[in-house]
Amino acid sequence: MAAGARAPQPRVLLCLGALLARAVSAGLEAVVIGEALGSVTLLCGNASAPRGLVTWYRNDSEPVFLLSSNSSLPPAVSRFSLVNASALHIEALSLQDEGTYTCQEVLNNTRCFPVSLQVADGPYQVEVNISTAGSLPNGTLFVAKGSQAAFSCRSSARPPPLVEWWFQAAPGRAELFGSNRTLSSFVLLQMSPGLQGNYTCAATNTLSGRQRKVTAELLVYSPPTSAPQCSAETSLVSSTLQLTCRWDGGYPEPDFLWTEEPGGMIVGNSTLGVETVNNSQVEDGKTFKCLGSHIVGPALGASCVVQIKSPSLLSEPMKTCFVGGNVTLTCQVSGASPLAKILWLRNLSQPEVVLQPSNHYLITQAGQSSNLTVHNCSRDLDEGYYVCRAENPVGVREVDIWLSVKEPVNVGSMVGTIISLFLLGVATISGLLLYYSPVFCWKGGTLRGQDMGDVMVLVDSEEEEEAEGVEKEDADEEEDETREELTKEVHKHGHIHRVTALVNGNLEQLKNGLQDLQDDNSAQQSDSVQDEEPS
Ligand SMILES: *[C@@H]1O[C@H](CO)[C@@H](O)[C@H](O)[C@H]1NC(C)=O
Ligand SMILES: *[C@@H]1O[C@H](CO)[C@@H](O)[C@H](O)[C@H]1NC(C)=O
Ligand SMILES: *[C@@H]1O[C@H](CO)[C@@H](O)[C@H](O)[C@H]1NC(C)=O
Ligand SMILES: *[C@@H]1O[C@H](CO)[C@@H](O)[C@H](O)[C@H]1NC(C)=O
Ligand SMILES: *[C@@H]1O[C@H](CO)[C@@H](O)[C@H](O)[C@H]1NC(C)=O
Ligand SMILES: *[C@@H]1O[C@H](CO)[C@@H](O)[C@H](O)[C@H]1NC(C)=O
Ligand SMILES: *[C@@H]1O[C@H](CO)[C@@H](O)[C@H](O)[C@H]1NC(C)=O
Ligand SMILES: *[C@@H]1O[C@H](CO)[C@@H](O)[C@H](O)[C@H]1NC(C)=O
Ligand SMILES: *[C@@H]1O[C@H](CO)[C@@H](O)[C@H](O)[C@H]1NC(C)=O
Ligand SMILES: *[C@@H]1O[C@H](CO)[C@@H](O)[C@H](O)[C@H]1NC(C)=O
Ligand SMILES: *[C@@H]1O[C@H](CO)[C@@H](O)[C@H](O)[C@H]1NC(C)=O
Ligand SMILES: *[C@@H]1O[C@H](CO)[C@@H](O)[C@H](O)[C@H]1NC(C)=O
Repeated sequence: MAAGARAPQPRVLLCLGALLARAVSAGLEAVVIGEALGSVTLLCGNASAPRGLVTWYRNDSEPVFLLSSNSSLPPAVSRFSLVNASALHIEALSLQDEGTYTCQEVLNNTRCFPVSLQVADGPYQVEVNISTAGSLPNGTLFVAKGSQAAFSCRSSARPPPLVEWWFQAAPGRAELFGSNRTLSSFVLLQMSPGLQGNYTCAATNTLSGRQRKVTAELLVYSPPTSAPQCSAETSLVSSTLQLTCRWDGGYPEPDFLWTEEPGGMIVGNSTLGVETVNNSQVEDGKTFKCLGSHIVGPALGASCVVQIKSPSLLSEPMKTCFVGGNVTLTCQVSGASPLAKILWLRNLSQPEVVLQPSNHYLITQAGQSSNLTVHNCSRDLDEGYYVCRAENPVGVREVDIWLSVKEPVNVGSMVGTIISLFLLGVATISGLLLYYSPVFCWKGGTLRGQDMGDVMVLVDSEEEEEAEGVEKEDADEEEDETREELTKEVHKHGHIHRVTALVNGNLEQLKNGLQDLQDDNSAQQSDSVQDEEPS
């Protein structure tokens, strides 16, 4: 067998020496590309006509017999076989198979066909490395906005592969980022939301065209831009306390943890930041804390607190209205967190009724201040207690306001009063004009203004009261100014004292106070002065 294999050699050498050299120099050498571990078929020429005896050689340093269509000559290696009695089929290709093959065909004459076989290998593996990025539980990478990210991709193949990076921000639109043979790396210095997307490294074997890709999804996260904000509201559905924490501008959404302070008992944990607090946990003065945490935000998170407070009320304890006139009761809520709902109720002879806006009652609210205007006052219908009630999930506070309805004062005496006051004003001005130099008189413009203002206030505040008081004012005009201001002060303070008493729930004191107010105005003043003396 070994002798048989060697037998054709002299003719081969002849063929190779003459014909093959001619074919190669003419550029007629066929090139066939195979892949490692794959199979390949080398054709002997291109004729599909009936063939003569075909013998294949490998042209290394010297021709080596591979196989022949003469069935009495067995193939050198079992990986080689003939197809259609002419083509050389090679299985399980290895890199060592690369080289030049020669097909010798013996028909009327002898012809040689050289075939060059190239074996490509890989790429089998693509190594992708993206630095300064964390990874999510599902494997997706993320990087903080503004930071830098370094990309590198490495792959090996024979021949060395072409390595390219592609970036896809939105489906269907890919952009070539960088390419280099065997290694491609680049750094993005300032990551922005526009650079979020899929990064694909593709390694291509330029010989076989085989390509391998690795895609990494990279998210560009940004922390919230401002500080978190805590607020407490009354839930519309159940009138329970609802805590809301907002921390805007971040991507993705932050997580919020609401706790009770002190103690840190957990109220809830969510990405919404909204928690409803069971009424049993709501106490006046209690503080709730929201801790926001963001994946690329501050390591310790950021927090805000909200304190829950019941409302406090401020109002005049009594008001007077003339029959057929209008009167406005004012109720001022302060300190309520969450904001209080303000209601007006009647408490005359009938049980408590919530007043609804109507032709008779006008209710307006600005912020936490509510006004109840009673139109066309009538003694039978409208005189009595009015209750202003402020409530939030922490507490309910009420203040009572007594409305007394009076017949209008005699018009003649009113007119008389106004005229006498006017005269008083004129007299004062004239006195001042005479007393001071003209220069000073000019300066006195403001003084005069003040006087007028005081006179107006006097009319306003005293209009409900008996003419007796006004006559007194007539008597001593010098003291009038200072005393009037004092009276105003006293009025204010007196009211505040009484309201405080109310809010503190001291109803007895309230009733007595109101009684005093009704009965005698001067008595009320002295009361108030007494109130002030200890402080
Ligand atoms: C066969 O090869 C010859 C040269 O060797 C060429 O001239 C001819 O066109 C080829 N025929 C076909 C069908 O490829
Ligand atoms: C075939 O082998 C001979 C002898 O070593 C060499 O001179 C020739 O260049 C080879 N031909 C090819 C196509 O490799
Ligand atoms: C086939 O090979 C045998 C043994 O080498 C040889 O005797 C025979 O002549 C060959 N046949 C042809 C057609 O070349
Ligand atoms: C073998 O011959 C058949 C029929 O002529 C043809 O279809 C097939 O392509 C040939 N195979 C090769 C490898 O040339
Ligand atoms: C080859 O020889 C045969 C006879 O054996 C003949 O008929 C044929 O024409 C010849 N072909 C060529 C190309 O010379
Ligand atoms: C991984 O999770 C992130 C955030 O939940 C999401 O945006 C991304 O699409 C996920 N990736 C995969 C491959 O599921
Ligand atoms: C990135 O790839 C994931 C799956 O591999 C796909 O769900 C997502 O839509 C891709 N994103 C873009 C921007 O192409
Ligand atoms: C390609 O990568 C090699 C190896 O890192 C490097 O030396 C070469 O400069 C790179 N070429 C280009 C065009 O980036
Ligand atoms: C309030 O919490 C208590 C226990 O903490 C629970 O038993 C009760 O059902 C809760 N009430 C509501 C209205 O959620
Ligand atoms: C009372 O209010 C009504 C409606 O605003 C108005 O028409 C009327 O003139 C007011 N009466 C007095 C005395 O101010
Ligand atoms: C309001 O009415 C309730 C019951 O109807 C009574 O207990 C309460 O004393 C009343 N308040 C006032 C200020 O009249
Ligand atoms: C005011 O009330 C009285 C009875 O209370 C009624 O007769 C009168 O028409 C009312 N006036 C207006 C303007 O509503």
